[in-house]
Amino acid sequence: MKVLKTVEAVRAFRRSLSGSLGLVPTMGAMHEGHLSLVRLARERCDAVLVSIYVNPTQFNSTADYQTYPRALEDDLAMLTSLDVAAVFQPTDRIIYPDGMVTTVKVAALGAHWEGAYRPGHFDGVATVVARLLNITTPDLACFGEKDYQQLLVVRRLVRDLNMAVEIIGGPTIRETDGLALSSRNALLTATERSRAPHLNQALDNAARLIGRGRPAPQVLEDEMAALTDRGFEVDYLALVDGATLETISDPKPGARLLVAAHLGSVRLIDNRAL
Ligand code: PAF
Repeated sequence: MKVLKTVEAVRAFRRSLSGSLGLVPTMGAMHEGHLSLVRLARERCDAVLVSIYVNPTQFNSTADYQTYPRALEDDLAMLTSLDVAAVFQPTDRIIYPDGMVTTVKVAALGAHWEGAYRPGHFDGVATVVARLLNITTPDLACFGEKDYQQLLVVRRLVRDLNMAVEIIGGPTIRETDGLALSSRNALLTATERSRAPHLNQALDNAARLIGRGRPAPQVLEDEMAALTDRGFEVDYLALVDGATLETISDPKPGARLLVAAHLGSVRLIDNRAL
């Protein structure tokens, strides 16, 4: 497995390939969710490139950026065993060269939910993803459905800028108790970790009750109250149109439940189809 550190090295690697290339962009601290995306890319492409870059512009708190888990050696060991052709591990200077003045903003889709609670987050995501796609020029790129809004933002970015890449969403991978895998789970204390599955349970309860015909606004209010009782500070639990992310009060095909909540100092997000 090659470890590429410059744009020139990535371009030379790209030119050396005769078949298709799948990109899996990550911020490292790999878990089974990332590895499942690597396998997805490998099934569809002749070669897989994984980028590892903790992108500072998508963090809206310095503390969150500084404490974000980093585990480069373990990451490289895991990827080597998965038939990954190369890892792109750029520096800040490569992604944000001196004098860079162009950024990307995905207006409507990036404005609410995570965008409202983390101002500037999706501008940072869209800008780094656009740069990674332009540097690596893959045939397809894989993103986890766990970050559902991010997946929609990236799809929209690619569509609006006519980028010649297919975006694939990979299913959320969960612990046996239902907690969605996330690099941030490593930051939970033992007590918080034991409570964390309630987030997914709130989504499942809400889906079941709304599916049985209970009014969604009441169900969501009750589930938010239950999460608060269990020590979460809830940012939102919402029923949305799965394509536009606009709030809806009645279920419809493609509807999605989104949740974000703090548990101690860790902010967790999750979602599911209704
Ligand atoms: O999902 C992530 O890990 C990041 O947001 C991404 C897509 C790698 C961009 O930095």
